[in-house]
Amino acid sequence: MAVELCPSILSADFWRLGEQVRTVSENGVRILHFDVMDGDFVPSISFGMPVLASIRKETDMFLDVHMMVREPVRYVAEMVKKGADSITVHLEACQDVRKTLQTIRDCGVSAGLSVKPGTPVEEAFPFLDLCSIFLIMTVEPGFGGQKYIESCTEKIRKAKDYIDANGLDCVIQVDGGIFEETLPIVVKAGASWLVEGSAVFNGDIVRNIELAKEQIRSLS
Ligand code: DX5
Ligand code: ZN
Repeated sequence: MAVELCPSILSADFWRLGEQVRTVSENGVRILHFDVMDGDFVPSISFGMPVLASIRKETDMFLDVHMMVREPVRYVAEMVKKGADSITVHLEACQDVRKTLQTIRDCGVSAGLSVKPGTPVEEAFPFLDLCSIFLIMTVEPGFGGQKYIESCTEKIRKAKDYIDANGLDCVIQVDGGIFEETLPIVVKAGASWLVEGSAVFNGDIVRNIELAKEQIRSLS
């Protein structure tokens, strides 16, 4: 599975959002991670449909929407209309996980399922047949710039074994605290979509992307 960097615009400078998204795209990034927070499932509130629609108009990058929202099924159709290419929901936030994933697929986009650090990966396994993305949170969802939770490495390994053993077509994505030091750990454990917020947007974006890509190259 090709390793892909997925910059999270949660750490972008919103005054310069267009310019920063363009920089990311011009530097060979194909997937943009879009964190939606509802102030209920997670303590913070981020951004939603209008911002997604504005970005969609200006880029052909794959827009990977991470819904940290209670009962996200309510917003799926609208998110797709506004330009989402994939929608990832939290296992812990859905009353009917299977129906939510099926609704996403019926809208014609890729479905993703995410687990928080305290949720065993095994709880997600019965739903992975419907998923293109399995997002293993490596920090408590809600804020950028947190420290990687080391116990999550074992969860990535377990998920990788399960996906391979069952021949599933599902990438493992990790999100939270991924930077120079933790990137090799998660890739070796089996993750292939790497979300990076602060590691991409803090400081020199071009240099940060180059550094991550260099590391990815040396690991593959
Ligand atoms: C956190 C979000 C992340 C966040 C990651 O709940 O889901 O996508 O932007 O930020 P970093 O890479 O700074 O930990
Ligand atoms: Zn995220």
